[in-house]
Amino acid sequence: MSIIELVGIKKNYGKDLSMVQALKGIDLNIEQGEMVAIMGPSGGGKSTLLNIIGCIDTPTEGRYLLEGQEVSRLNFNTLSEIRNKKLSFIFQNFALLKDFSAIDNVIMPLNFRKVSARQKKELALQYLERLEIKELYNRKVKDLSGGQQQRVAIARALAQESSIILADEPTGALDQSNGKNIMTILKNLNKEYNKTVIIVTHDDKVASYCSRIVNIKDGILDL
Ligand SMILES: Nc1ncnc2c1ncn2[C@@H]1O[C@H](COP(=O)(O)OP(=O)(O)OP(=O)(O)O)[C@@H](O)[C@H]1O
Ligand SMILES: [Mg+2]
Repeated sequence: MSIIELVGIKKNYGKDLSMVQALKGIDLNIEQGEMVAIMGPSGGGKSTLLNIIGCIDTPTEGRYLLEGQEVSRLNFNTLSEIRNKKLSFIFQNFALLKDFSAIDNVIMPLNFRKVSARQKKELALQYLERLEIKELYNRKVKDLSGGQQQRVAIARALAQESSIILADEPTGALDQSNGKNIMTILKNLNKEYNKTVIIVTHDDKVASYCSRIVNIKDGILDL
């Protein structure tokens, strides 16, 4: 069984004359433990596809089986629960709470778990340290640089320790050495912990860490 199975996925935004067909029928299987790059031109549908895989958005048409469970028609609450359990997301725009500290942002998704406040804090600090940003843990996100914010977003995703990690341009705001560091961390999680990693990127160097490249253009897979 594939961990992710998409069958005939379509996504329309808006309606009538202003309707955009962002995805026009995507069939895609991803196996547990794969590391996949999603590539293609701007506006081609990469983020839309990743958002559907990440249960942040639902398709207009088609079926999505996540670990064998049909999730394309679930209501918002059930979908949020599944997302919190199974998926970690590193967003293109970070989606951090800017008025909160770095560590509070990392802890936020862990608040749904039945673990002590102390354990949550330890886990958050551990990942902030891996991202080499531990010393800034108490600083408000709005007072961090773009690259530092991105590393907080990545620490937040990893601290959830879910089996699927999704990332939209995770190295976009980082210099080369930080970008390499992040890719090494993701590759290790993939290799050592058999995590499934899916990365949207424009960067061939980022894609070279992946075992498969999926190209998407004008809402269809470019095979
Ligand atoms: N909320 C929305 N409402 C209307 N149209 C949208 C919305 N989100 C995306 N689109 C449109 O859907 C298409 C696919 O967008 P998407 O964000 O998936 O592209 P992308 O491949 O991620 O591009 P980029 O590389 O620039 O991030 C684009 O034409 C975009 O304008
Ligand atoms: Mg995008």
